[in-house]
Amino acid sequence: PADDEVRIEEIKRLLRVNNAVLVAHYYTDDAIQQLAEETGGCVADSLEMARFGARHEANTLVVAGVRFMGETAKILSPEKRVLMPTLEATCSLDLGCPADEFSAFCDQHPDRTVVVYANTSAAVKARADWVVTSSIAVEVIEELHARGEKILWAPDKHLGGYIQKKTGADMLLWDGACIVHEEFKAKGVEDLKALYPEAAVLVHPESPAAVVELADVAGSTSQLIQAAKELPNDKLIVATDRGIFFKMQQAVPEKILFEAPTAGNGASCKSCAHCPWMAMNALDNLAGALRLGSGEILVDDALRLAALKPLERMLNFQR
Ligand code: 13P
Ligand code: SF4
Repeated sequence: PADDEVRIEEIKRLLRVNNAVLVAHYYTDDAIQQLAEETGGCVADSLEMARFGARHEANTLVVAGVRFMGETAKILSPEKRVLMPTLEATCSLDLGCPADEFSAFCDQHPDRTVVVYANTSAAVKARADWVVTSSIAVEVIEELHARGEKILWAPDKHLGGYIQKKTGADMLLWDGACIVHEEFKAKGVEDLKALYPEAAVLVHPESPAAVVELADVAGSTSQLIQAAKELPNDKLIVATDRGIFFKMQQAVPEKILFEAPTAGNGASCKSCAHCPWMAMNALDNLAGALRLGSGEILVDDALRLAALKPLERMLNFQR
């Protein structure tokens, strides 16, 4: 639409004059992903977003995604201004893990190494020994397990259960879930697979165990896009937020992509497989943030330093 064109041109200009760069997640709107790509920003998974923002020389990072992604960017780059199209974009995992309750839980288990998913507040990260994203979680826990450490994991119970199964680590799990991935149904995936037996199944490990068990590949958003390219199958059933289809289809234009069903009868629910908080990022509020300097992420200094340690462990992790 013509309005979108005007907004897009305005955003491009504002990015230039503010020496700003756009860092977008795969689950944001196609137009935002496209803009990030065209303007020298990045479209990425949570780990790559963090790395990109920290390394980029821009003075302003505009993070299109959800709150924890903006906070992570600010913790890693306190000298940069970090703006978000809206500060309302949260995450059910973050909401389901309040810092005070989490801290009390940690206090009850002082013998455990505390590993938290990136989808948490700065205050929860500040209480952790390690932060991980889904693309690096298995490797980090494998290493900690090899060192004989017992783990306290939060907040995603599905991702935690998946890692536990893969690594055999002793993990105590917080009871949190992603409202988007939790909706995928094994029965629906099985029914679709029965229709297209030659299709490969790609699953984000925030999905329930019964769905992950059906996966040919389980991994972070970037890992799923990589798998889409590498697998020989020309049909792919994909269980993650449907925002990923924009980049995945670009990566494999010749392949047929199916949304994994979110209802047991095999029918795809059009409103389920899209994160309502990611969907709050739009061209309008993105332009507004750049125009007004609104949606700025600020993190208290003491909190920032405490949260930086476990984040840096993740970024420096090598096996
Ligand atoms: P990744 O992009 O790291 O796979 O994270 C998925 C997610 O749900 C982010 O909100
Ligand atoms: Fe959180 Fe799930 Fe939305 Fe990702 S998709 S931001 S994990 S609610």
